[in-house]
Amino acid sequence: MKQKVLITRKVFPEVVEALSRHFDVVTNADDRPWSPDEIAVRLEGCSAALSTVMCRFDASVLAASPGLKVISNIAVGYNNIDVAEATKRRIFVTNTPGVLDETTADLTWALMMAAARRIPEGDAFVRRGDWQVAFSMSAFLGADLHGATLGVIGMGRIGQAIARRALGFNMRVLYHNRTRLPEGDELRLKARHVERDELLSLSDFVVVMVPYSQATHHLIGATELAKMKPTAVFVNTARGGVVDDKALVDALREGKIAAAGIDVFEGEPRLHPGYLALPNAVLTPHIGSASRATRLAMCAMAQDNLMAALAGRVPPNLVNKELA
Ligand code: DGY
Repeated sequence: MKQKVLITRKVFPEVVEALSRHFDVVTNADDRPWSPDEIAVRLEGCSAALSTVMCRFDASVLAASPGLKVISNIAVGYNNIDVAEATKRRIFVTNTPGVLDETTADLTWALMMAAARRIPEGDAFVRRGDWQVAFSMSAFLGADLHGATLGVIGMGRIGQAIARRALGFNMRVLYHNRTRLPEGDELRLKARHVERDELLSLSDFVVVMVPYSQATHHLIGATELAKMKPTAVFVNTARGGVVDDKALVDALREGKIAAAGIDVFEGEPRLHPGYLALPNAVLTPHIGSASRATRLAMCAMAQDNLMAALAGRVPPNLVNKELA
């Protein structure tokens, strides 16, 4: 008898076809995000779950799913899963690191540029038919990226990909990370390690790129925003909850910083209503890794992880390494 696999959200048809060759696959045809209770019900009899970041596998779901061997997240992040509990129950948790670094760095830059050069504001102005006088010397003035200082908080793979792009813009790069990069990497990226407060006060562009955990909850709040330059542009393409959205809305509204680009929100898809009225906030719906090629690569990697686990092997991208 084939093992049963649950795919918690809609994925590409080729992924469903590939898994269906080996397993009895249950899908989420209408793509509605299921609550943990709904996931638990659908997991009955399943050996594996192929999941996205917004599907919560908390302790109660894991307790209700005794046959579960692997949760394969189609994401680099895995804060939707109670990994400690999964480990206790000897359930593999896997992720998709590496394949989305460049695409997420591209989106980060898109937001930096859009916020600094006020592209959504200009676009809306043109579409509304408000552009009545050709060329105005002082309309839509923004900030230069070239020659400015970029500060990256969290210098993992994605942080480094963001920093590498700054070389082409002749920017000065500061970074803050728990562990300093090897000297060779600092030289290659022309990046200087500094304390977080120094980064906040010296940078023209501040990007946060850390995973979400209790330790990074509201890492950027009113205190940190107050340390930034009034001309600073802030970008969050990491995770909702890393930033205190209310504090960011207040800072943008009160001109404590100039602009922000935000792709991830605490409690998304709901977002702090204050954002909607702010012309200096550029908002995107969690699309950091959203290119077709990258999403296919993430699915392929997640599929490999799942298949390895159900074949009785240690999956290549195991999060809870103590199970290896
Ligand atoms: C991730 O990989 O963690 C992203 O947030 C989803 O693409």
